[in-house]
Amino acid sequence: MRKFDPWPIFFRREWNRNWPFLVGFAITGTIITKFSLGLTDYDDAIADEIKSDYCPPIPLILAFQFPPFAEEPAHFLKMASTTHFRNRLKFRQNLFSLSKGAVFCSYATNTDKSGTEPADPFVLTTPLYYVNAPPHMGSAYTTIAADAIARFQRLLGKKVIFITGTDEHGEKIAAAAADGGSSPSEHCDVVSQAYKTLWKDLDIAYDKFIRTTEPKHEAIVKEFYSSVLANGDIYKADYEGLYCVNCEEYKDEKELLENQCCPIHLKPCVARKEDNYFFALSKYQKLLEDTLTENPDFVQPSFRLNEVQGWIKSGLRDFSISRASVDWGIPVPNDNKQTIYVWFDALLGYISALSEDRDQPSLRTAVSSGWPASLHLIGKDILRFHAVYWPAMLMSAGIGLPKKVFGHGFLTKDGMKMGKSLGNTLEPNELVHNFGSDAVRYFFLKEVEFGNDGDYSEDRFIKIVNAHLANTIGNLLNRTLGLLKKNCQSTLVVDSAVAAEGTAFKDTVEKLVETARGHYENLSLSSACEAVLDISNAGNSYMDEHVPWSRFKQGGAASEAAAKDLVIILEAMRIIAVALSPVTPNLCWRIYEQLGYSNEQFSNAAWSDTKWGGLKGGQVMAQPKPVFGRIELKTGTEDGGEPAAAKQVAKKKEKKAKAQAVAEA
Ligand code: MSP
Repeated sequence: MRKFDPWPIFFRREWNRNWPFLVGFAITGTIITKFSLGLTDYDDAIADEIKSDYCPPIPLILAFQFPPFAEEPAHFLKMASTTHFRNRLKFRQNLFSLSKGAVFCSYATNTDKSGTEPADPFVLTTPLYYVNAPPHMGSAYTTIAADAIARFQRLLGKKVIFITGTDEHGEKIAAAAADGGSSPSEHCDVVSQAYKTLWKDLDIAYDKFIRTTEPKHEAIVKEFYSSVLANGDIYKADYEGLYCVNCEEYKDEKELLENQCCPIHLKPCVARKEDNYFFALSKYQKLLEDTLTENPDFVQPSFRLNEVQGWIKSGLRDFSISRASVDWGIPVPNDNKQTIYVWFDALLGYISALSEDRDQPSLRTAVSSGWPASLHLIGKDILRFHAVYWPAMLMSAGIGLPKKVFGHGFLTKDGMKMGKSLGNTLEPNELVHNFGSDAVRYFFLKEVEFGNDGDYSEDRFIKIVNAHLANTIGNLLNRTLGLLKKNCQSTLVVDSAVAAEGTAFKDTVEKLVETARGHYENLSLSSACEAVLDISNAGNSYMDEHVPWSRFKQGGAASEAAAKDLVIILEAMRIIAVALSPVTPNLCWRIYEQLGYSNEQFSNAAWSDTKWGGLKGGQVMAQPKPVFGRIELKTGTEDGGEPAAAKQVAKKKEKKAKAQAVAEA
């Protein structure tokens, strides 16, 4: 078995193409170093130190001195100013010793202008969605979760690069286009746009949207393929097996159901025989095993790690990475009779997405723009591709591995995976249109334990959203603001820090916020929602115990205490608005607005603002109006006897009742 070579591909390539430059670099570097330090004799230890301190400027000088030797001098300059490049020079031996395990580092870490190293960006990806059909709720689910995680990381002050996109090549996309009577590229344009529109409607704030039909992606895939080929990990062979077009994967007969049906798509697999190019996955078996043993957090939740380890243990087989029968794909370099297998193409989208449009696309520049990914969020059905194939491919190319792969469960309908191929999908556009994005985001993140499967039912959806968002949170804010308007001219009487002195409530809130933070960090999104909701539960209990409406009536000290109680509740609402903003950004903005803040203040809010004490005496609150209208199920039937769809109705009756309750108070 070939020993894993940890040298990144750009270094090997640089050596092949630019060795005169590199030799010149070494000689001149030594001369300049000696000259600038006035040394004539020094030992190895000093030499090492000098190299590490002086190497970064030297290539800069040399890139100008020997431009003909440097293929892309601008890039070389960038590369030379990276920690990684310095590390390569300084810690060469360490890197070789790393070859036993995964290379959990990237080509490069950006260094800012002051020379200090900013923290690595938090790079988060969703799968790149197939465009064989428009998005359904199952695909939206991963993206909603990713958006909540990205928003949380931004609140922590991290630079986030949130990547999503569409996977547009392959047999099933070409077939879908033909069925619809359009060309593959027209078809892809339409469906890819449908994803973008849905993400907008769901308030998904992605940073990069990659389409695998983009020229920069194609260039990077070809470069990657060539480097794996140069490493001796690609060979040509005959293959005969059973293929599931929906999975775009050859299947093992033993994993199939009756009639050779795919267990995921319940459709028969087809016998295929092809002369294909293969990736030597089996070479990486030991390295993958070691990597997972040494980095048990690489695959999450932990029960999925066991599954991955099981696959690897049972023996890895090389897999075919080209298709002779598929035209709609990226041609194999040097053999345009074949196209690159859709997964070998699409996974590279996580890297090509990082490539800036202004740059000449190259693997090297893309990788130095943020790789490795901090987190790949995926569904459990594509775990093998992300936790086995992808790391092995990266190892072959000498590129660092992502830090974590999280495989969530399925949204099911009647216990079956909801999906385009099975045709039992839930229409996300309809849900958003009927209930709004906050309700949809909240329901799926709160009610489906992230990592496990979860079933959808409309009744449950309405019950949960009404109980949590309309009642527990919305109503608490509304009645508190109503009381404040009636008794304090909508103005806070003291600072919230002063109001909370001597009460246990502040501690309760602080503990719950800390709990929520921990859950967000561990990707336990449902528990994070629960902890924030508990703040509101505690607020409701506080109101019920302190009955400020009757204490206002008593006047004097009781009335003063009641005014302080309102400040306490509103401060809790402010904290909820920050802590729940990753999940329900619109609702949280409406809460913030009611508390008298501007949109800019809301946009600039950070997790540190969940600390008690933000609201100050004298701050004027907005006029109370419900931040979340209850959803009402229309009873009866509409045209054709179909059950009527649930509609979000701001109940007039209820508003009236609320207004009355406030007036009574
Ligand atoms: N194109 C590949 C991914 C390539 S990534 C480089 C693909 N696309 S997909 O559109 O079929 O699926 C995308 C994601 O949606 C997967 O993570 C999949 O698990 C998820 N879901 C599809 N149906 C789902 C549910 N019913 N429930 C939850 N997520 C599901 O695979």
